Amino acid sequence: MPTLVYLIISLINFYAFGHKCRIVRHGDQTTADCTRLKLNNVPTCLPLSLSGLDLNYNQISMIKNNAFKSFSNLTTLTMDFNNIDTINGYAFQGLKRLRWLSMKHNQLNIFSKIFDIVFKPLLRLQHLDIRYNINKTLDISKPMVYPYFGHHSFLTDLYMDIVQNPVFKLSGFENILKLNTIKFARCYLNQMTNDTLVDLPSTITAIYFHKCVSSISIVEADFLKPFTILQILNMDRVAIQLGDALKLLYPFTHTRMTSIIFKQISPHVPKPVFITRVMINYLMHICVKTLVLAESEIVGYEQNSLLALKFPDCLENVVFSGNRFSLALGPHLRELILLMRKAINVKFFDMSYNAINFNNIEYCNLDVLDNPSYAKEIYRKGCQIKSA
Ligand SMILES: *[C@@H]1O[C@H](CO)[C@@H](O)[C@H](O)[C@H]1NC(C)=O
Ligand SMILES: *[C@@H]1O[C@H](CO)[C@@H](O)[C@H](O)[C@H]1NC(C)=O
Ligand SMILES: *[C@@H]1O[C@H](CO)[C@@H](O)[C@H](O)[C@H]1NC(C)=O
Repeated sequence: MPTLVYLIISLINFYAFGHKCRIVRHGDQTTADCTRLKLNNVPTCLPLSLSGLDLNYNQISMIKNNAFKSFSNLTTLTMDFNNIDTINGYAFQGLKRLRWLSMKHNQLNIFSKIFDIVFKPLLRLQHLDIRYNINKTLDISKPMVYPYFGHHSFLTDLYMDIVQNPVFKLSGFENILKLNTIKFARCYLNQMTNDTLVDLPSTITAIYFHKCVSSISIVEADFLKPFTILQILNMDRVAIQLGDALKLLYPFTHTRMTSIIFKQISPHVPKPVFITRVMINYLMHICVKTLVLAESEIVGYEQNSLLALKFPDCLENVVFSGNRFSLALGPHLRELILLMRKAINVKFFDMSYNAINFNNIEYCNLDVLDNPSYAKEIYRKGCQIKSA
């Protein structure tokens, strides 16, 4: 009899969370997929042994104290695309094994003092994504102090929005010796000065700026100087002149870089760009594997500029898509032939969507060009693999 009761209870239990979140067991790991269930709260009746919890696309607006306390083995927690605007100070209490936290596309005010407390228990955190939370309704023009991240000594990836006047010096970056990737999106910067990023750590090897759509009036050459070992610079939809973007490469002259990706670099009122020798001056002296100058209104280039790179043998992937210029016109043909003789390592060259304007450009997977581990797959069958 007790066995039967137990069986019935466990069946009920199974259905209680079984019909909502999908519980997946994989070896000794248990994860719960609770996406798109119109949840207003963090569900409670889930297996306590969970290592992963996915709450994406729900209607959660608040995270109460100790919401995850019973899931002490949780390593991955994602809550993207909810309406979270309130997090209590002890919301993440007990998550001492959490490595991956993603809360993008919510309504968090990450400048609220509470975050210094909220993130504190997450001592094992490696990946934190709090992008797409700030919108224009917040007065983002005054100096804004970013939260304290110094407790997360294992943090490698930090993704967040960047405001007009960011203050990073109280964020404890000096304690995070493993931080290597920082992504900024949305981006409200209206100047890129030598001081803007000085308080970010020099361990960063990859930096991304996405959707910096306010007009950026001041661009100074030492903006990226804090990142002495930078390998990847990725700017996508940034409202500056292409010449200014190229100027940002100044600190990296005579270094090696994995990728320089400039895509949709153009001020609000786009102007045709004729690339001059002076504009290329810094880029010319960088040994770079992946070079992307795409959708940036390029209509032509001076002799001895774009094709006069000093280290053509470093190039592996070159993308000039979505501009309006011809590579080999007139005297450029000779330059091109000379360059091609030296660019012996080029595996991928894309100059599609040129000549006229296209609305919708499909790239042959820019994102994976970055990642050498995908490269073999991409080039094996030409350009077929697309990221989501
Ligand atoms: C968490 O993991 C440890 C070690 O793998 C295990 O002993 C413990 O029972 C787990 N905790 C829960 C609540 O399942
Ligand atoms: C962002 O905008 C939404 C409305 O679109 C508003 O409800 C919300 O409070 C805003 N969030 C912030 C942090 O300003
Ligand atoms: C910023 O750095 C560049 C390059 O070192 C320098 O030429 C420029 O004068 C600096 N700007 C200011 C305002 O200090």
